[in-house]
Amino acid sequence: MANGTAFVLGATGQIGRVAVRALAADGWRVRAASRSAGRDAGWPGDVQAVAVDREDGAALGAALGDGCDVLLDCVAYGREHARQLRGLADRVGSAVVISSGAVYEDERGRSFDTQGEPDGFPAYPVPITESCRTVAPSDQTYGTRKAALEQELLAAGDRLPTTLLRAGAIHGPHSPLPRELYFVKRALDGRPVRVLAWRGESRFHTVHVDNLAELVRLAAARPGSRVLNTGDPEAPSVAEISAAVDAVMGVRSEMVPVDGAPPRPGVGETPWSVERPVVFDTSAAERELGYRAVTGYAESLPPTVEWLTRELAARDWRTAFPVLAGVYPGLFDYATEDAWLNATRAKAT
Ligand SMILES: NC(=O)c1ccc[n+]([C@@H]2O[C@H](COP(=O)([O-])OP(=O)(O)OC[C@H]3O[C@@H](n4cnc5c(N)ncnc54)[C@H](OP(=O)(O)O)[C@@H]3O)[C@@H](O)[C@H]2O)c1
Repeated sequence: MANGTAFVLGATGQIGRVAVRALAADGWRVRAASRSAGRDAGWPGDVQAVAVDREDGAALGAALGDGCDVLLDCVAYGREHARQLRGLADRVGSAVVISSGAVYEDERGRSFDTQGEPDGFPAYPVPITESCRTVAPSDQTYGTRKAALEQELLAAGDRLPTTLLRAGAIHGPHSPLPRELYFVKRALDGRPVRVLAWRGESRFHTVHVDNLAELVRLAAARPGSRVLNTGDPEAPSVAEISAAVDAVMGVRSEMVPVDGAPPRPGVGETPWSVERPVVFDTSAAERELGYRAVTGYAESLPPTVEWLTRELAARDWRTAFPVLAGVYPGLFDYATEDAWLNATRAKAT
């Protein structure tokens, strides 16, 4: 089972923690890099934690030392990071780099970047294959930077074969953006209803960190220059996610479906509430790497719910999850939700 050496950049994040474990279990000698050089309790003792800030190119080069057979980069954004990796190609056998479904655009040039515009939400094919159009690479936005990252790395495929993994809504313990909190906190707060825009039918493809780590493991063993979608075996609707969280937490809530968009800002607006489906075709990963999902959405939820509940026990959600609060500040505006519910029910009687 002996593999070579693996260097994981971003090792203490939600993806890195699990990927380090999966690579080590597959026989790789793993060096686990982050600025804090932290460790995960689930890692075997011979995983070596390394302190490095990847923004410091010289420090990254020094941390790599003689190099590695495979480098997993969980925190690469944009052209500069791609060039940094290319500059290390003589010491890195191959790479696996986390990208994003935010690179896709539809036939009318709409992408996540245009969703704030009138009729700006993309109408992607269902499901989206890797050959779908992508946004023009630039330094402008998260999506265009990821597109630039992909382009630069694919162009260097002869020197540094790189598998780019496009992810949607990543979930699992230690997520900096735990969308599941939307329902977990409502359950903990004893909220009786779940108001859901778009009738709860939105689908924004989830991917559990264990499924991502399985793809990392397979791509590490079979280097190539490629992009692959990732996703859970099913793309649950918001209503299904709500029901799955309720089931794990042993509560029953009433669903209040809303036709169309959120009726007021912060009402019915979950982190997965998209106007049109964002569902990824994952069959290329199956064909190219023999990928099979190792978990499903509902099946994977209990440890995430336990972790979220623990994290919330002693702290306000904004303190516990500052990244989430920054991206979605209005997730728990119960006063506005109640006012809308009362007004809607008064109108109905
Ligand atoms: N969240 C989503 O739904 C989603 C969707 C699509 C794609 N993605 C992609 O997922 C990736 C993020 O992975 P994640 O969620 O596992 O991240 P994460 O949980 O935020 O963890 C980030 C990891 O990187 C380390 N790190 C951060 N900055 C660093 C630096 N300058 N040098 C070295 N290490 C650094 C952090 O540890 P220290 O702080 O100690 O350095 C930590 O180990 C990104 O590429 C993102 O675009 C996320």
